[in-house]
Amino acid sequence: MTIEQARERTATKLLRASLDNSYDPVIEIDWAAPPDPGKLYEPAHRVSLYGTPLWDSLDPGQRIELSKHEVASMASVGIWFETILMRMLLRLYTKQDPTSSHAQYALTEVADECRHSVMFGRMLDKLGTPVYRVGVRDRMLGSYLTSTARGVRMFAAILIAEEILDAWQREGMVDESVQPIMRSISRIHVIEEARHVRWAKEELERSAPLMGAAERAYTQFVIGRSAHTIARNLINPDVYRAVGIDPAEGRRVAMANPHHRESLTWAATKVTSFLGDLGLIGGPGMPFWRRSYLV
Ligand SMILES: [Fe+2]
Ligand SMILES: [Fe+2]
Repeated sequence: MTIEQARERTATKLLRASLDNSYDPVIEIDWAAPPDPGKLYEPAHRVSLYGTPLWDSLDPGQRIELSKHEVASMASVGIWFETILMRMLLRLYTKQDPTSSHAQYALTEVADECRHSVMFGRMLDKLGTPVYRVGVRDRMLGSYLTSTARGVRMFAAILIAEEILDAWQREGMVDESVQPIMRSISRIHVIEEARHVRWAKEELERSAPLMGAAERAYTQFVIGRSAHTIARNLINPDVYRAVGIDPAEGRRVAMANPHHRESLTWAATKVTSFLGDLGLIGGPGMPFWRRSYLV
């Protein structure tokens, strides 16, 4: 089987799966339901300050509030990254034969991500939190990725963001201590992202082994840098303001918190072992992975 035939086979399978399991979050989610006053927005042990003296100093209401702002930060970075991803996929699409399943699946994934970004936007509105935007430097890195990344670099960057968020959501969607709306949002995202993860993984398995040494090193650098940007932006330091903690102090405590570091490594386990097996983690990308606590 040629690489093009293998690509078509994957895309055909995923187009069929998209027909069976696609959701319109505007209809599927009960946006009018009031929040459950006693529940957090993510499992307590995933909140960045969990287990620190600062966490112990917060009352139950403040803990709920902080968990709400942390998921809002993740949804904000999710929207930012989905926009980058949609633009990369559209660029891929324009270079393909529109009659191919591969091209049609790229568009189908853009359609999924459109619905997701609408869902996360509605979620932020419903939660009543700020939209937590990434800084200027990361926006520039995002633009660089958007306009230059293709092939292995594009699929690896997509996969890192998808898998980290996916681990968080898979755990939260079955946790009864979590707000029902967050569980519904997570469930829809997890189901649809499973296709995206599969598409990226199968493409990486086909293409990564074909790279030469120089391209591999550049790719390791780009994806390491992307992973670092994603990890560092998950929890925007401004979230701590919501519970009266100085953002610099909150970030300092979170980054020194072994529970939080473990959560980052845990969320990235699947993607780091997959990319590691393909030789995509290492070389000039390694310092970024270490500094991001994803490995
Ligand atoms: Fe998504
Ligand atoms: Fe996705």
